[in-house]
Amino acid sequence: MNKSMKRRDFMKTAAVTGIAAAMMPKTLFSSQIVNERIKLGFIGTGMRGQWVLWLAAKYPEIDIPAICDIDDGMIESALKILKDAGKPEPKVYKKGDEDFRNMVAHEDLDGVYIATPWEWHHPMAIAAMKHGNHVGTEVPAALTVGDCWDLVNTSERTGKFCMIMENVCYRRDIMAVLNMVREGLFGELLHCQGGYQHDLRHVKFNDGVQPYGGGVEFGENGYSESKWRTQHSVERNGDLYPTHGLGPVSAMLDINRGNRMVHLTSTATQTRGLHNYIVKLGGKDHPNSKVEFKLGDIVTTVIKCANGQTIMLSHDTNSPRPYSLNFRVQGTKGIWMRDNDSIYIEGMSPEEHRWEPDTEYMKKYDHPLWKRFEDQAAGGGHGGMDFFIFRAFVESIKRDVSPPIDVYDAASLSVICPLSEKSIRLNSASVRIPDFTRRKWKTNKPIFGLNNEI
Ligand SMILES: NC(=O)c1ccc[n+]([C@@H]2O[C@H](COP(=O)([O-])OP(=O)(O)OC[C@H]3O[C@@H](n4cnc5c(N)ncnc54)[C@H](O)[C@@H]3O)[C@@H](O)[C@H]2O)c1
Repeated sequence: MNKSMKRRDFMKTAAVTGIAAAMMPKTLFSSQIVNERIKLGFIGTGMRGQWVLWLAAKYPEIDIPAICDIDDGMIESALKILKDAGKPEPKVYKKGDEDFRNMVAHEDLDGVYIATPWEWHHPMAIAAMKHGNHVGTEVPAALTVGDCWDLVNTSERTGKFCMIMENVCYRRDIMAVLNMVREGLFGELLHCQGGYQHDLRHVKFNDGVQPYGGGVEFGENGYSESKWRTQHSVERNGDLYPTHGLGPVSAMLDINRGNRMVHLTSTATQTRGLHNYIVKLGGKDHPNSKVEFKLGDIVTTVIKCANGQTIMLSHDTNSPRPYSLNFRVQGTKGIWMRDNDSIYIEGMSPEEHRWEPDTEYMKKYDHPLWKRFEDQAAGGGHGGMDFFIFRAFVESIKRDVSPPIDVYDAASLSVICPLSEKSIRLNSASVRIPDFTRRKWKTNKPIFGLNNEI
């Protein structure tokens, strides 16, 4: 891939390939500029990394010359995925926690995708950018305010992008609602809600053999996420996973592009669920029943935006409950709520003061990107949204353009983690949210979901 390819060149290529594509049968998973080859490296080939590797391997024009992990079993599964897809065997970097530095230093890559434990995203993204690679990192991108700034500064200095792979931004209903917001259906937005409400007890604990359930082990005795994620619940009290809820509403509220988040408060409930789960499944004599968890079972964060709106986020992962990302989008003219698939638009909904089903709105406002790639997205993971987020990463590298979810989003979505912890430490005091755009939010224009391209 010619790293210096400019947008103008791309537009020409896109126009030509667009005509060609219209004449040729569709290649499943083939990207827009089919002949442009790119080389990707993967750091972290656990459950998430393998899934995205599987997606990547479906693109004929993607080469995967190197992967990196520290777990032989995970590496073996990753190699099998590539082999089954007919891709050549990549070089494997597996000599310990810091071997990723050798991969990004010695391999000639265009981009690096990172799916490791949270604490590794920042050092891996920084190393990759410093060695000339674009980055796609899993969520959250960093865990401290300083590290969020570091991502922004390094991306600006190196000219390499750092895309946060916030797949929920591409959910079909979310993109339809984004359309409705942009067409003014809700009037001026007032309030949005989102959250991570997901009973993760069977993820935070397992039997050390399978990723989900079967025991109450974690840390060294656990497998996959229980190996590392659970420790965050031991040591931290805050919104540990804000981006799935915040990413989508950030785009609707034009955060970093005409609007910004100014301050927040967070409040946590008491801590019960994880301990109760250990006792229920492992008995009160199980050694893990002595572990003290810091993470409150439900953490509620309220954010104030420069243009007046409020955002409420919830983090709720320790209790029995159905899955819900808690979306609500409300403006001066109407409201959408995901949990009951309902909408109310003044003057349009058939009955005053009553919800109507959102089905017809979802069809009418279906996003052009979804209309275009519906068939390819089917089976692409998480209802298709993984197809779109990964495709956006690939297209941004090929076109050598800034991705639709960029380093300023990576920083502003991720910084909620440390700031919510700080607010809770300070008895729910209000905490200022940095402006990672350095005042450019006032003139920046929206970049996400503008058309059916990326
Ligand atoms: N966006 C989504 O929908 C989604 C879904 C699942 C997971 N995730 C995110 O993806 C990331 C990975 O989650 P997962 O479920 O795959 O966890 P996992 O534990 O299954 O995989 C993590 C992998 O990273 C490897 N690893 C750890 N330290 C390393 C190091 N220093 N160098 C190289 N490899 C290292 C581990 O050996 C493991 O294979 C997390 O950040 C998680 O939050 C996102």
